[in-house]
Amino acid sequence: MVELEGMLIQRTLAENYASQCGFCTPGMCMSLYDTLSNCSTEKQPTLHDIEDSFNGNICRCTGYRPILDGAKKSFAEKDIPQQLIVDFPKELEEDCEKKPIYIKGTNIEFYRPLTLDHLFDFRKQCSNPSEIHFIAGNTGETFDDIFHQQRYPILIHLSQISELQKLSEESNGLTIGSCVTLSQLKFYFALKQEHQQLYRIFHEQLDFNASRQVRNQATIGGHILNHSHKHTSDLLPILYVCETKLRFIHLLNKKKIEIDIKDFKTMNRDDLLLVSIFIPFIQTNEYLQSYKQAHRRKHDTGIVTCAFRLKLNVKENKIQLFNMAFGGFGDGLILIPEKTINYINNNEHQWTRNEMMTNVKNHLLEEIQLDEFSENGQPEYRRALVISFLFKFYLYVSNTSEELFQKQRPISRSEQIFDTSKQTKYVHQPTIHHNAYIHATGEAKYVDDLPSAHNTLHGALVFSSKPHARIVSMNTDEAQTIEGFIKFYSYHDIPPTGSNKFGPIVKDEEIFSSKMVHCMDMVIGLCVADTEEHARQAARLVRIEYEELTPVILTIDQAIEHESYLGPPGQQESVLETGNIEKGFNKSDHIIEGSFYIGAQEHFYMEPNAYLVQPVSEGHYTQLHVYASTQGATSIQEAVAEALGLNANEVICHVLRVGGGFGGKESRNIIPCVATALAAHHLQQPVRLCLTREEDMKLTGHRHPFKILYKVGFMKDGLLKSIDLNLYANAGCTLDSSLLMIERAMTHVDNIYKCENLRVKGRACRTNLPSNTAMRGFGGPEGLLSAEFIIEHIHSYLQLNDDPSIIRELNMYKPGERTFFNQELEKKDWFVPKMWKKLKESGQYEQRLKDVKEFNEKNQFRKRGLNLTGTKFGIGAPSALLFHQAGALITIYKDGSILITHGGIELGQGLQMKMIQITAEQLDIDISLIRFHETSTDKIPNTTPTVGSLSADLYGPALIDACQQLNKNLAPIKHKHPTLTWEKLIEQAYQERVQLSAYGFYAVAEKFLKSNYPKNEINFIYFTQGVGMSEVEIDCLTGDFHIIRTDILMDFAKSLNPFIDIGQIEGAFMQGVGYFTMEELIQGDSQHPWISQVGSLHNADPNKYKLPMANDVPIDFRVTLLNENEGNERTVCYSSKAVGEPPLFLSVTVLLAIKYAIEAYRTEREPFTLNVPLTCERIRMACQDELVDSVISKDKDHVFQPCGSF
Ligand SMILES: Cc1cc2nc3c(=O)[nH]c(=O)nc-3n(C[C@H](O)[C@H](O)[C@H](O)COP(=O)(O)OP(=O)(O)OC[C@H]3O[C@@H](n4cnc5c(N)ncnc54)[C@H](O)[C@@H]3O)c2cc1C
Ligand code: FES
Repeated sequence: MVELEGMLIQRTLAENYASQCGFCTPGMCMSLYDTLSNCSTEKQPTLHDIEDSFNGNICRCTGYRPILDGAKKSFAEKDIPQQLIVDFPKELEEDCEKKPIYIKGTNIEFYRPLTLDHLFDFRKQCSNPSEIHFIAGNTGETFDDIFHQQRYPILIHLSQISELQKLSEESNGLTIGSCVTLSQLKFYFALKQEHQQLYRIFHEQLDFNASRQVRNQATIGGHILNHSHKHTSDLLPILYVCETKLRFIHLLNKKKIEIDIKDFKTMNRDDLLLVSIFIPFIQTNEYLQSYKQAHRRKHDTGIVTCAFRLKLNVKENKIQLFNMAFGGFGDGLILIPEKTINYINNNEHQWTRNEMMTNVKNHLLEEIQLDEFSENGQPEYRRALVISFLFKFYLYVSNTSEELFQKQRPISRSEQIFDTSKQTKYVHQPTIHHNAYIHATGEAKYVDDLPSAHNTLHGALVFSSKPHARIVSMNTDEAQTIEGFIKFYSYHDIPPTGSNKFGPIVKDEEIFSSKMVHCMDMVIGLCVADTEEHARQAARLVRIEYEELTPVILTIDQAIEHESYLGPPGQQESVLETGNIEKGFNKSDHIIEGSFYIGAQEHFYMEPNAYLVQPVSEGHYTQLHVYASTQGATSIQEAVAEALGLNANEVICHVLRVGGGFGGKESRNIIPCVATALAAHHLQQPVRLCLTREEDMKLTGHRHPFKILYKVGFMKDGLLKSIDLNLYANAGCTLDSSLLMIERAMTHVDNIYKCENLRVKGRACRTNLPSNTAMRGFGGPEGLLSAEFIIEHIHSYLQLNDDPSIIRELNMYKPGERTFFNQELEKKDWFVPKMWKKLKESGQYEQRLKDVKEFNEKNQFRKRGLNLTGTKFGIGAPSALLFHQAGALITIYKDGSILITHGGIELGQGLQMKMIQITAEQLDIDISLIRFHETSTDKIPNTTPTVGSLSADLYGPALIDACQQLNKNLAPIKHKHPTLTWEKLIEQAYQERVQLSAYGFYAVAEKFLKSNYPKNEINFIYFTQGVGMSEVEIDCLTGDFHIIRTDILMDFAKSLNPFIDIGQIEGAFMQGVGYFTMEELIQGDSQHPWISQVGSLHNADPNKYKLPMANDVPIDFRVTLLNENEGNERTVCYSSKAVGEPPLFLSVTVLLAIKYAIEAYRTEREPFTLNVPLTCERIRMACQDELVDSVISKDKDHVFQPCGSF
């Protein structure tokens, strides 16, 4: 299809379906190249080398599986292909004589010396030493630079100074030059770890320190000094217990200073350069160990890190010397519990469990005090980790027979099974994503890659900094002093013919806040300047004066207390009800009640929102071309036109491709776009704006947090009799699409289970948070989770047997039954029972359940769980009939080539590839003749946003309609000239003046959708169904876990493109794994009093908000597409079903398997509440034991729950 000569890596990823939206793909290629180019001709890359390549890259689309598989298949344990061995060009080497570099910029001087003497000379010329800032690997300061806008006048780059690069082993220890990188160290330790305990421990810790990309840059000196004042370090604890010496030199008097690492916290470092460090060796009769627990195993700094060192008189089992150090407390400095260390060292204690885990533990807890105001929160968890690590060290030294949890995982493997025997040429075939090659080479263009015209200006938004306040004044005096400043735009600048009102469904918000702000980070204005830098500088200087207002409502519970709900009065609560719940409760053998919270989730699409608006006006005739990363071209067009008082035909929105959306680019991205368009229109110059990750996360809302309360009545055997549910979603300060989202949650609370009496009520809580919005599943996963938690509660309550799948089977809908909202599960389209049986057998559920039980009996501190669950996901939005229409345009040119377009947007889900396949199949032509260019509102009017997994179902039939028109037009010519090639046929058609373009249209039949809440009648078009099974292992002492194996069986009827669809399953599953176990947004609310700014999002950057990475994928990941559903009259697009959202929920199998593992650890079997996400903190704290009990203060409820922002 595409020739990528020599580009083996790019071709490998493209041809293994390892690219979806493509935004991350060049980075993946670079990481793989780094691995391969670091292997010499003698050393083949191992499977581990290849897997480890990707531990510094995030992909939000693919779920990593195809990336890992493609790379391993092509390169692991194979000779490095010649093309990849690139020698540094000789001619450049000769010209490139190393010399010091000095650059003087407007605000910054930069100097790169080659020797210490160069540095001393340079220092003499500087009058103010406090202006000097050293850079080694520059990984430590990058975050500050980006997020806290720190600037230094003089930068000195140290990494080329030869004296700082040395690594020399002496008889008593190792000297490491301060600029030796962590990768160089890791390599050195790997070779020598057999000889020195220190090397082995250091090597293990380095494997989980940052990522290879960071370690290649980061230096040991930078690491030590960087962590001295801000960040948690994984290495400092080891350096502390090993009594490392730091060797400095004074830049002016050249005096050498050696200090003990524990003293450098307090020393004055002005004019001091760290030259090297010296680590004394550990003796053979000593024990050294280091532990770390982070939110995510790879590429994340520790929540708590630590090191222990012990010298033991083995004969008498007496402690001779004990040392320990902890990272992750307070301001990031290392914590040395001196009193406890002294207590141990001064009293010749016995090395016994009782001594260590009673007396020493109590001393340690006494010394390490944290409370709810301690920075970074999690006081109980962090203290639990401290003593759990101590316990781990005790077990390690005592050499117990039990093997503890291994952080290192085996190499992952996978399997994908689908039917290849389809009778079609293109449709149903696993064709590669049409843009995969240009994704991989980095040539695919996103909005921010579009070239700027010479007069392009840049915008930067001004945000509110109070959660609930009246705006008293806005002052731009200081901002105007910034060079290149052009203008500040606010609500005053909306033209009188336009409107400042906005809202995707109900116009209940403003483009620019005028008088009030209802949350942090509302858009108040836009500064425009000649460069992005100037615009941002100016935006930071706009002064807004506020009068703060009360109440500030941030959580669901506060909203309930204040009765603060969204929606018109009297219509704030939606209700669905079947049967009679009271009668149902009366007939039940048991009734139980419960509640739980689910946290928010950030979309974290890889491409942040970006906009470029180009005015092309002639006289009074206006044309605004808007290039936006959006899921809804028409939504942008309409909002811009309305705000500026233009007609829709004066605004054209163009979307080429989007680097991931997941619902987050449907509505919340419109306000910054309108602000940019206002400036461009007013100034009649192009204006562009690209949000930073922090702005994007703070401004554009998230998946809604939920509080779910239930009461359930059931029979002795677990049969459901009656359910009463209340769903509360934290919607933020405006409606957005929250009411539709709540309705979807309500219609999914049954999942795959029948209950004849069921009532569900839903409310969207109005709070002083940025408006929450759609995210993959749109309320579905939250509703579905209610059903599963209810089943789990019943199972724990009844304690009938060890197999919760039995209660699931007992309650499962049978073919032909009706859902609680009265939609029939047609016999020919209800596949869950069949798939359940199939997966139970193929996944050897029963045998593995026994194996898990056996494993748990043998192991005390690591436990396993196995869960089997199904899902049904309604396709279509019953309350929004308008969303079910689509237009498509096919243009055939005289040479036979074809351009297609339609209203759907390529977000990485492979929509355009599927549409090209359909067009080729319909016209019966070679697929290479067809191109898709862009979605734009001048070609397709009134587009439906690309949401709800529905786009192939809408745009496929619209294209089929267009193809049928063209086939009809061409039929007479074909009949007359049956042997003509396509190109000749088209030429002939043109000669005979046949219409060669067609506009197709499709609207879902009204009979397929129903929405009548008072009558309890809802109809989706159909249900996409699936079943999943996951097995996990948890570390009961830390909360870490591995997904050992996942099996998924999905019914997409006849998949349009099996590999694209399997990619969607894997990507959705991993996004769900993040949602259910790792991703946690933390707000400055009552649960987090340590966050000083009330109402602000604390973790709005990838450093603090953690997504799953390659190291988190199931170690064994098997996906199968059901091959038995022929489709029906509702599956109108080649009998295929919607794909994007439904598989996400199957990641609940991981959540529930973790729950079973926790249950296996807890001694008492009472039901317990788990809030979601089930992070390592929640897992550890739910693994209730003596250690956990000893950190929970007596005044807290005995059913302790870690804090969360709900
Ligand atoms: C994405 C990412 C992930 C990370 N993950 C982890 C992790 O998992 N665990 C962990 O512990 N850390 C982690 N880190 C932190 C990382 O280890 C440190 O940023 C790194 O070690 C700093 O080294 P550097 O050479 O880049 O220092 P720089 O950024 O160059 O310097 C850091 C500080 O030290 C000063 N300095 C540097 N060298 C000298 C010298 N010779 N003399 C005097 N002053 C000097 C600089 O002026 C600066 O103040 C991560 C960092 C990043 C960016
Ligand atoms: S393909 Fe990796 S982020 Fe989209």
